[in-house]
Amino acid sequence: MEAVGNDQNAAENVNDAEPSPPRPEETLSKTAQKKLLKQQRFEAKKAEKKAQMKELKKKEAERKRKEWEETLASLTEEERLKLIESRKNLRKERMEKRSEEKDKKMERLTKAKECGQKIVIDLEFSHLMTPTEINSLVQQIMYCYAVNGRCTSPAHLWLTGCKGEMDNQLKRLPGFDKWMMEKENQSYIVALQDQKENLVYLTADAETVLHELDLKKIYIIGGLVDRNRWKGITMKKAEEQGIQTAKLPIGNYLKMSSSQVLTVNQVLEILLKFLESRDWRASFFQVIPQRKRSQGDAEENLGVTEEEENADKEDQFPSKKNCVEAPS
Ligand SMILES: C[S@@+](CC[C@H](N)C(=O)[O-])C[C@H]1O[C@@H](n2cnc3c(N)ncnc32)[C@H](O)[C@@H]1O
Repeated sequence: MEAVGNDQNAAENVNDAEPSPPRPEETLSKTAQKKLLKQQRFEAKKAEKKAQMKELKKKEAERKRKEWEETLASLTEEERLKLIESRKNLRKERMEKRSEEKDKKMERLTKAKECGQKIVIDLEFSHLMTPTEINSLVQQIMYCYAVNGRCTSPAHLWLTGCKGEMDNQLKRLPGFDKWMMEKENQSYIVALQDQKENLVYLTADAETVLHELDLKKIYIIGGLVDRNRWKGITMKKAEEQGIQTAKLPIGNYLKMSSSQVLTVNQVLEILLKFLESRDWRASFFQVIPQRKRSQGDAEENLGVTEEEENADKEDQFPSKKNCVEAPS
């Protein structure tokens, strides 16, 4: 009897239990589900490509090692020592150059903390993103930090609302704890409350067009990868908080094949280029990929996802030398 009672209780408890919150994909529209599926297929292909690349690199390293051993074997003892010595020197020079570049970068970033253009990346949207989207955003932030560090006059970057899953993922990035940027777990609206009148939320849905960058202002970029599933969310947030909004003047300079909503890293790169050149046209043309612009192969552009753009970016990441290079 008692056992039955327990079962009943258990059944009641099950019925009483709060329904588990729907997973992000369960709340998606059909179009969004299709996009998600496309994105997942793309992720699988990307992983395959990554594994192939890893294998290729391994083979190449092995080939070089063999070549080196063969070269050494073909030399006299004296020649061998000479060659080893010159290789050592070359490596030392390269390391010194790298360390010099790093010091210069640190100098630029320290100066940016004092007098650089303040730009915030608002990380308060992680609850609206799938794990893959959070991962894409983390990649974009990594890219933003690298591009900023290479600029001759970098911005003073802030990450605000840096907590929960976003914070966990960012902390997993090698060297993140040493990044020269502000990492704030509070929202910008709290952390920068004494400068509320200077906060400008950048959003493609704003009426106001951004013509100039003002050093006194603090520009906020929404840290969101959503393939515009959350249309107008940053505009709504800024309106509710009573802060200014502005959109990039894209329409004044070029036609886009689809929407004017750009990724976080594209917006930051455009701002950085504009800070250097004060030329919107050049900044847009250098950063916005050809396929997103209306001229030329517009049809190709329509299916491009943020992940595909991220992949382009990741592919270029190791070879990007300075901030005037543009993803294409
Ligand atoms: C991928 S978008 C996020 C789109 C999101 N649905 C929204 O409502 O903002 C990432 C962020 O880049 C910035 N952004 C993108 N396109 C922009 C544009 N044309 N003008 C100004 N800011 C833009 C915004 O801050 C935006 O939140």
